Amino acid sequence: MTAPWAVVTGASSGIGLAIAEHLLKDGHRVAAWARRGDRLTELVERYGAEQIRMFQVDVRDAAAVQAAVAELTRDGAEIGLLVNNAGLSLGLGPLDEGDTGDWHTMVQTNIEGLLACTHAVMPGMRAAGRGHIVNIGSLAAEFPFLGGNVYAGTKAFVHHLTANLRVDLHGSGVRVTCVAPGMVRSEFAVVRFGGDQELADALYEGIQPLTPADVADAVVWAHRCPPNVNVNHIELMSLDQPYGLSLSRRKDAR
Ligand SMILES: NC(=O)c1ccc[n+]([C@@H]2O[C@H](COP(=O)([O-])OP(=O)(O)OC[C@H]3O[C@@H](n4cnc5c(N)ncnc54)[C@H](OP(=O)(O)O)[C@@H]3O)[C@@H](O)[C@H]2O)c1
Repeated sequence: MTAPWAVVTGASSGIGLAIAEHLLKDGHRVAAWARRGDRLTELVERYGAEQIRMFQVDVRDAAAVQAAVAELTRDGAEIGLLVNNAGLSLGLGPLDEGDTGDWHTMVQTNIEGLLACTHAVMPGMRAAGRGHIVNIGSLAAEFPFLGGNVYAGTKAFVHHLTANLRVDLHGSGVRVTCVAPGMVRSEFAVVRFGGDQELADALYEGIQPLTPADVADAVVWAHRCPPNVNVNHIELMSLDQPYGLSLSRRKDAR
């Protein structure tokens, strides 16, 4: 029998890329999903097509998600791990200054995309009587910060869904974990600030944020635990970060 696949969504940068690489180094076969195919191609070239398969998938497209899962499991292969990592934050201001298009993108990606991936993968795990779903949440789900509104709401959904999935999957042999990081230096802030790299760099001035590898370590640790152990929730943050993201300390960040 072939080794099960680990599906990592949002594997083209930041935390997802680090998780994919940690899993590859740990000997897993990884299915790397994202929209940017050029980034995924680089990953395949680095690790070889035996160990990694790329899927240029937009998680907001439920039909494409279903098709990717069907393609990956066509030969009867199992998906042993799903890391629901793809996500983003857009916009900075209070809700009344928000852009409804940004809200839809966040809800469609962080909530509906995660649901689509989970819905597509769960039946196979249930049938196999094993598997692990790791959802990447956020400290933002628990602690309000200026401009967090809709993004933080989407991550609160992820935290609650993770706990509810455990109930849905009770007795199935499938484990469910939420990993909730504080500030991590990735492309996240650049995306949030509409591509403004300088503003994103300034956010981390004078502090040492978490690295994507720190979060990947937590995911891999939770996955390595024995099959009878369910790690429910891991919250990790930089020693330099107080509770709640202090975006308000920057006047030019509004
Ligand atoms: N950085 C932080 O401070 C922080 C803190 C807590 C939680 N998080 C969470 O960590 C996760 C990863 O973020 P990151 O920090 O690694 O940011 P990042 O470097 O911007 O990575 C985001 C990843 O999500 C993918 N993605 C975005 N929209 C997608 C879509 N519609 N379909 C498929 N893939 C999509 C991106 O790939 P493509 O653009 O190629 O599709 C990219 O690979 C997110 O869920 C985020 O909310 C981040």
